[in-house]
Amino acid sequence: MSDGGADEPGPGPFERLGGEPAVRALVERFYDLMDLEPGYRELRAVHGASLDAARDKLFWFLCGWLGGPSHYTDRFGHPMLRARHLPFRIGIRERDQWLACMQQAMRETGVEAALAQRLAESFFGTADWMRNHAGA
Ligand code: HEM
Repeated sequence: MSDGGADEPGPGPFERLGGEPAVRALVERFYDLMDLEPGYRELRAVHGASLDAARDKLFWFLCGWLGGPSHYTDRFGHPMLRARHLPFRIGIRERDQWLACMQQAMRETGVEAALAQRLAESFFGTADWMRNHAGA
């Protein structure tokens, strides 16, 4: 799995983004949009009534994935993201809504365009690998 490019020299994506406060703001906006936007209805429906646990877990996970602190693995061990997503129906539609929701959240929280573009490519690889339902 891609790690968001943390092995390159210079400040990694976690620092470029703005550290924990920026990752937290991105995740909060991501789930707020999932709740609000009709275009993400099917993605929202895969989730339970409350998004609170998902907010914390995605925040912890992304910190490590971007090259920052390993909050998620400290708590839960290896992410095993594909296995953890097997209970949820993920087809092309859910994948594309997740990616669009994240793109919108990056745009609205002011993630620098070049960084957002690179992260979007890494997110695509991860989200596509999570698909567990043929077709849409
Ligand atoms: C492709 C479409 C995706 C769908 C439909 C989806 C859906 C879900 C759902 C329903 C949960 C459970 C939330 C809860 O605990 O209440 C979840 C958990 C999670 N998702 Fe996704 N997800 C997708 C893609 C991704 C991607 C691309 C990432 C990372 C870049 C990601 C990271 C996570 C993490 C870290 C958790 C918490 C896992 C755990 O410890 O239980 N997801 N996702």
